Amino acid sequence: MIILKNERDQAGMRAAGAVAGTVLDEVAAVVAPGVTTKDLDAYAAERIKHHGGRSAFLGYRKYPCQLCISVNEEVVHGLANDRRLQFGDIVSLDVGVNYHGYIGDTARTVPVGGCSPLAQKLIDVTERALYVGIGQAVGGRRVEDISRAIQHFVEGNGFSVVREFVGHGVGRTMHEEPQVPNYVDGKPSPRLRAGMTLAIEPMVNAGGPAVRVLGDGWTVVSQDGLPSAHFEHTVLLTDAEPEVLTWPAKTASK
Ligand code: MF3
Ligand code: CO
Ligand code: CO
Repeated sequence: MIILKNERDQAGMRAAGAVAGTVLDEVAAVVAPGVTTKDLDAYAAERIKHHGGRSAFLGYRKYPCQLCISVNEEVVHGLANDRRLQFGDIVSLDVGVNYHGYIGDTARTVPVGGCSPLAQKLIDVTERALYVGIGQAVGGRRVEDISRAIQHFVEGNGFSVVREFVGHGVGRTMHEEPQVPNYVDGKPSPRLRAGMTLAIEPMVNAGGPAVRVLGDGWTVVSQDGLPSAHFEHTVLLTDAEPEVLTWPAKTASK
């Protein structure tokens, strides 16, 4: 069942989205060579609390961290540890915040200082793929229109989309129907309607699409060891322009 959000829910989702977007911005701003992923996790905890929210990830299926931090060939769900980020790494940050009962979910990949031209192209293509997908998130179309647009754009740029993890409806719980794949799976595809809130999130590999999960039970890596990028926004559908809910707040309260 797909939950449509009424005006009150939409206001709640806007508020949660703004907190998630602001925290992601704040954490991305402290990414630098020498910083450990644990430092980022602790900083995220502090910022989420400052804004009056709580992590939507911590404790979700026993997930042990505040946010997901995935470096280089790590695709998603990377765990914070003592690893120090190095110049040239790329780091995917995925922030989920529960704010007064509603969830904002947003992700971004950033270079640590700088990165190779290939990694930078991967980041750029993944970010643009997200906006290409959001452009299809309009009442009357189908979920598959989002999936097709993302897949076409990514593959047209020589990269591949991950199949095993997908975007999703989001609301009072983090993963609601419908699933929003980043590729056309040929299954019957739900009609998009105004009032849906979707987390659209292309995960793009520089090499092949195959992934595997590490022994920690969480960290997803590319099978070929090549880098991967991830961008995500929570979006409210209308009958016209989609509304991106996870922009950082314009006046970030510090
Ligand atoms: N944020 C992820 C998503 O975009 C889900 C993370 S689940 C967790 O759907 F358990 F790792 F937190
Ligand atoms: Co996410
Ligand atoms: Co998500």
